[in-house]
Amino acid sequence: MHVVRTGQELADLARELTGSNRLGGVLVPTMGALHEAHLALIRRAREVARRNDDPAGCVVSIFVNPAQFNERDDFERYPRPLEDDLATCERDGVCVVFAPAPDVVYPPGEPSPDFELPPIVTQPRLEDTARPGHFRGVNRVLHRLFELIAPRAAVFGEKDYQQLILARHVGRLKGVDVLGHPTVRAPDGLALSSRNVFLKGPLRQQALALSRSLIAASREPTPERAERAMNHVLREAGLTPDYAVVRDAQTLARQGPGVEQYRAVVAARVGVVRLLDNAPWPGWTMTT
Ligand code: PAF
Repeated sequence: MHVVRTGQELADLARELTGSNRLGGVLVPTMGALHEAHLALIRRAREVARRNDDPAGCVVSIFVNPAQFNERDDFERYPRPLEDDLATCERDGVCVVFAPAPDVVYPPGEPSPDFELPPIVTQPRLEDTARPGHFRGVNRVLHRLFELIAPRAAVFGEKDYQQLILARHVGRLKGVDVLGHPTVRAPDGLALSSRNVFLKGPLRQQALALSRSLIAASREPTPERAERAMNHVLREAGLTPDYAVVRDAQTLARQGPGVEQYRAVVAARVGVVRLLDNAPWPGWTMTT
């Protein structure tokens, strides 16, 4: 496994593996603290790389992106077990880990272009409203990672659904095929996330209301009733959702005529942790 930390090291490795300036490979972008859901993305990336005989195989980036955090505390307490993550990558057949310092991604003194934000970031009034500036930071880091690594494809989890649609947009601009991977869940239904380590005892029980709300929604015959059912489940569990709605699966716009597929999406704070979850609507059955 190759561990690289700078643009120069990436370029040298690209020449060694591919004979060109483009590393290629199938990227799994992460902020580290790897868990089972990341491992599922890594397996998928390895499979796609193998099918394409890609010499760079699966590439994992580990970078806690300061630009996407709204709260300083959240950034500071974000887990950073780099040595464990490297051991996990090695064990799971990752070919390249890119673990840059912030000044590699955002070189000081270099103007950092503010890439245009697509409608999926500015219009749904979901994460974009709850976390102002968050997607501006995600947009910026994805542009940089796709430029530096130049992967052929990148794999993202569906749990961060609005992020996945943003990544598809950036992928189209940069010539990177963005693949979504189904949400990985704990046996009790909680969608896996690096922040779940902060959910102890009763908080963990309370967090299960998110997936339960999606199950409740899936049984309702109209989006309006589904939204009522979701809100009911969350409030019964003592949670005040940031949103619990059913939207157009492609644009996350409010329902209107011509919607072909729907997505139920939910976000709520449990203790210090903000949790997200989503599922196709209607008729979803949860698999863990
Ligand atoms: O989902 C994440 O871990 C991050 O938002 C990502 C995609 C790695 C960008 O920093």
